[in-house]
Order: sequence, then structure tokens, then C-alpha cells
Amino acid sequence: MDKLKIEGGKKLFGNVRISGAKNAAVAIIPAVLLVDGVCRIENVPDIQDVSAITEILTYLGANVSFPDKNTLEIDAATVKSYMADCEKVRSMRASYYLLGALLGRFHKAHVRLPGGCNFGERPIDQHIKSFEAMGADVKIDYDVVVAEAPERLRAASVYLDVVSVGATINAMLAACLADGLTVIENAAKEPHVVDLANFLNTMGASIKGAGTDVIRIKGVEKLRGGTYSIIPDQIEAGTFMIAAAAAGGNVLVENVIPRHMDSLSAKLLEAGAIITEYEDSIRVESDGILKGVNVKTMPYPGFPTDLQPQIVTLLSIAKGTSMVTEGVWKQRFQYIEELTRMGADVIIGGDRAVIHGVDKLHGAVVRATDLRAGACLAIAGLIADGVTYINELKHIDRGYEDLEGKLSSLGAQITRIVD
Ligand code: EPU
Repeated sequence: MDKLKIEGGKKLFGNVRISGAKNAAVAIIPAVLLVDGVCRIENVPDIQDVSAITEILTYLGANVSFPDKNTLEIDAATVKSYMADCEKVRSMRASYYLLGALLGRFHKAHVRLPGGCNFGERPIDQHIKSFEAMGADVKIDYDVVVAEAPERLRAASVYLDVVSVGATINAMLAACLADGLTVIENAAKEPHVVDLANFLNTMGASIKGAGTDVIRIKGVEKLRGGTYSIIPDQIEAGTFMIAAAAAGGNVLVENVIPRHMDSLSAKLLEAGAIITEYEDSIRVESDGILKGVNVKTMPYPGFPTDLQPQIVTLLSIAKGTSMVTEGVWKQRFQYIEELTRMGADVIIGGDRAVIHGVDKLHGAVVRATDLRAGACLAIAGLIADGVTYINELKHIDRGYEDLEGKLSSLGAQITRIVD
């Protein structure tokens, strides 16, 4: 299997362009199942999760083509099946969006239970509750979620017991073509929730309030085709901002929505980096000498859990003691074992990591345990003395477009060793 080789110690200089948002793409692509017509989707990230979800749509019978590597055209009118039972479905967490989309389209969906990043239990009870409220009967049959309604879904009031991105998106997908007005309360406000709503509205849906706690969806008879461009990836942008602050240098992160980065920009400033925001780019300047800060991850607009491993890596070489509390995925600390192999001094107690800054990390042979763990180890490799090898690259490839190419263009000594 491929691995990354990183020779640490180089500062980063130059411009890097951020790709389209993975978590928006993996919701928008299955949403095309609801559309009667051709959808052209631009700014699609060239990553494994996108290949997987487009393969699944092809399996279901959609016509899928890539006019270029970041543009996708899909005609899902030819889809006849609501059975997403191929092996590919298990490879990605976001395949649960097929449930909402297929239910909305056929009033029936049979979808194999999702896989994806493994950081402990990942329940879908709130998704199921939403579908049931709209009239579907949902059961788990061995490893397949079987959701069926006797007729067109009916609108419902859904109060989410936890703020869940996935349940918010799935309820929105199911409600688009339902009969009447669905109200989702305690909805997630993440940028990709808003992006999906914008996509669906562009295709003729009637969704109001996305980006607030209450989303109102008035069911329509049908959605039509059109063109849509995906927003920039908040987490990829954050990964490069943290890399630049930790390694030191001067990097202009282009194609970002600076407002999406506020929680991170504030922490990087507090840690000692200089952050300058422009209309659609952010400059990060740093001498690599940083001080410890405390961070708590929370749903948007809080500090994103998907940047937690990367910020812990930065804090591992910041002066003093930092405390990072994980407020979304309590068990998202598996990667710490790998980071400590590189010399980090981190103690985990429950949902908290206490980090005592060390002068230097050192190169080691490590393993990406999940997507963001992979990104954090790449940053660790950049700031470590010596050579780092990162195995299990498949996790990084799921969600970062050409991570090594982009880092190399900033002056990092990073190469992919193809096995
Ligand atoms: N939860 C429930 N019941 C549910 C759903 C969620 O209890 O039915 C809990 C979860 O256990 C968790 C919290 O609610 O504690 C939030 O989970 P959420 O549903 O928001 O997560 P998700 O939709 O499964 C998405 C991203 C994740 C990201 C989280 C949180 C996608 C495809 N995935 O997951 O992204 O960590 O939101 O922001 O959008 C990543 O990109 O690396 C990644 C893992």
C-alpha cells in the first residue's frame, strides 16, 4: 500500500488552492437522486469518497460522467433501484445519505450499513427517528437498513435530540419531495448543511432557515436539473492553516470562505500566528514559535472536531500546557498513540487531551488511523526532525485532494511512495 515520506523541518511558503468541500460533495451527489434532469456539479473534490459515491450512483443506474476531474454531470432519471446493497456502500460513512435520497424518490430505501472513519460508536437513531416521523417504517435487517413508506412521505416536525449533521441532511433530503411543510428543530448549522440546501433550492426545492437551528422544508412535486458549484472545504483549509502556523512560514490559503474559519483563526491568533483575512483567502504567517491554548470542539460555529487532531499536533510543540476537549466524538483520540511515537507528550483522560508542549517531534514510521488522523500525522511529519513515513494512506486519499502535491508546492519535502 502507498505511503508518504516526509523530511521535516522545512517552512512553508506560497499559495495553496483549497478544493471543494468533501462533506458537501458527499451529500449533494446522492441528492441528485431526487432530481428529474441533468445536474452539473462544479468544484467537486477529486477524492476517493467522491469516486465511491459516484460508483454507487452508477450501480443504481444513474448516468455519471466527469467532463474534467472537478466537474461532474449526473442524470439520475434512469435509476430504477432503491437497493444500495453493493460492497462500496460500506466503504463510506456518508452512504447513509442514500437513505434520505432514495426514500424521498421511491418512498423505499434499502441501504447497507455505512462504514467510514472508525472513532467509536456512530449511531444513526436521529436519522431513523426523522424517517419514521415522515411515515416510513425502518428496520435493520442484518447489515441493511430497510426503510419503507406505503406512499409519498408526509411532512413532519422533527426535533433532533443531538445536533447531528447527518440527521439534519437526511431529514432535509427526505422532506424535499414530501407532502407538506417539514420543520427540523435543533438542526446542525455546518457550512455543508447550508450548501446542500442551496443546491436543492437551485434545483427547485423550497428550503428556508439552513444555517440556523430551525429549517423549514416545503415539499415540492419535483426537482429539475441545473448547475451548481460546491463551496470550498472548511476542513482542508483549516488543515493548511494549521500546517503553516505549526511549520512556520507565510502561506496564502486561497478559495476559502473566511467566515467559516473564524473559530480556528481565533485560536491560531491566540497561539501566536498572524492571520490576515481577504475576501476569499486567508494568509497565515508564523515563525513556528507558538504558545499553548485551550480548545473545545463543538458543532458549527464552534471549533470543528474534524480539526481536532491537527490542532493537537500544533499544540504538541507549543510552549506550555494546552487542554483540548472533544465535544462531538468522545473517542476521537486513537491517533494520539501515533503522535506520541513521534515524541508528543499528550495524556488522555476521557474526552480530554492534556498536551505538554515539547521542543521538537522526531520522525517515525506511523499509521493513519482515520482521515483527520492522517492529516495530523502529515503536519507532525512537517514539523519533526528527521524522516516520517505514514502508512494507511487510503484514509487520507478518502478526503484530501493531492495533499502531498499541495504541500510540496509550498516547499515541503514530501513524496508518495507507490507500492
Ligand atoms: N449522533 C447521535 N445520533 C445520530 C447521529 C449522531 O447520537 O443519529 C451523535 C454522534 O454520535 C456524535 C454527534 O451526534 O456524537 C454528531 O454527529 P453527526 O451526525 O453530526 O456526524 P456525522 O454526520 O456522522 C459529519 C461529518 C464528520 C464530522 C461530523 C461532525 C460527513 C460525511 N461527516 O458526520 O466528518 O466529524 O459531521 O461535524 O459530513 C470527517 O470529515 O473526517 C468526518 C468524520
